[in-house]
Amino acid sequence: MSQTTNQKNIQLIRGFKDILPGETELWQHIERTAISLFEDFGFREIRIPIMEKTELFARSIGEDTDIVEKEMYTFADRRGDMLTLRPEATASICRAYIQHKMAAQDPVRKFYTIGPMFRRERPQKGRYRQFYQIDAEIFGVAAPYADIKLIFMLRTLFDRLDVTDTTAHINSLGCPACRPRFKAALAQLLSEAAPKLCSDCNRRKDRNPLRVMDCKVPGCREAMAGAPSILDYLCADCRAHFATVTDTLSRLGVPFEIDKQLVRGLDYYTRTAFEIQTGALGAQSAVAGGGRYDGLVESLGGPATPAIGFAIGFDRLAEIIAAGAPVTTRPPDLFIAALGETARRQAFEWSAALGVAGIGVSMVYADKSLKAQMKQANRQNAGRVLIVGESELAAGTVVLRDMASKSQQEIPVKGLIDHLVKALC
Ligand code: HAM
Repeated sequence: MSQTTNQKNIQLIRGFKDILPGETELWQHIERTAISLFEDFGFREIRIPIMEKTELFARSIGEDTDIVEKEMYTFADRRGDMLTLRPEATASICRAYIQHKMAAQDPVRKFYTIGPMFRRERPQKGRYRQFYQIDAEIFGVAAPYADIKLIFMLRTLFDRLDVTDTTAHINSLGCPACRPRFKAALAQLLSEAAPKLCSDCNRRKDRNPLRVMDCKVPGCREAMAGAPSILDYLCADCRAHFATVTDTLSRLGVPFEIDKQLVRGLDYYTRTAFEIQTGALGAQSAVAGGGRYDGLVESLGGPATPAIGFAIGFDRLAEIIAAGAPVTTRPPDLFIAALGETARRQAFEWSAALGVAGIGVSMVYADKSLKAQMKQANRQNAGRVLIVGESELAAGTVVLRDMASKSQQEIPVKGLIDHLVKALC
């Protein structure tokens, strides 16, 4: 047996995926739309590393969360340092904000970042082990207007992308002043319901009872059916904050539902928490999620800094949009059909010059008949074809064909590039 037939094709890592041409056009469109909107709203791009010290995520997201307990790609590097592929961006942005002492110049900062995240979840439709997030964060604003601005910006982005079939779910998770009372009431209920709870929730119910609200196991859901609402336990400040957020969103015409069950899967949240949910992706209903995390920067060693942000699941957003409208690839502006080696060499040089001038050119480099090349031009949906024959070239002319009207014109080789740039731009 030869060596090649003996080797198995190497496949992708489970839960990872390629985003192929045909899909990347849509990804670029989403990315461009998001960046242009975020910049209009005063956000600046930040790029953070793909890997951080494990401790950063453990301390931010919380030791009792599914992400930290079960899903992180963590390993010891060659020196034995514990490192983790980032499962989200917020913790790293906080680390950068503190490390670069950004608060000293101006504590109010607005960031966005787009890139891959890693969580070792069970892969299914809309859930991957490497997925992408479009993330935006506001630091240094305690007022509810930051919450409203972010949710409004998210809604505007979805509108610009024609994603309408989604619902915003909003809740308040209180603050260190009022949450302990709610936690105590919840812990009381959970101690009575202990036999119904899954093993994770039994372990978490005393230390972190809010996590049980997030559990999808049927027994835990049943136990939580009679749970008190956190909104009934909010202190006066949290209540006023939540009222301003919901009243102003209503006045701005942003549709939302108050969802008392919404707790989010990360421990750093305080006050406003929200999710954009969709029915289009089966079990994976959240296409974006976020909230306030007023204590996180300080808990990581920085100055006390209120903050809020969201992350959109890029893969999920692209899937929803692609399901509604098939993606089309951009056709070349010009296809050059060259006949013979001399014509091909000349055509290749023209294609380079046209590329520099911003014209998308396609041509084949193999020796193909005119018929085969015209077929190729049709397949690529080229609007015009430049036909370069050896004898015509020797006579100083080429032919430009309009594929829609099927009309042709002879053009002199002298001044050809200028002529084409004018005709095609
Ligand atoms: P998250 O809810 O964990 O929040 O993730 C945000 C979004 O990322 C989800 O709503 C979902 O669309 C997408 N997502 C999460 N896991 C996966 C996965 N395995 N496959 C595909 N998509 C996924 C955060 O990450 C917070 N950092 C958001 C935030 C920013 N909060 C404040 N600032």
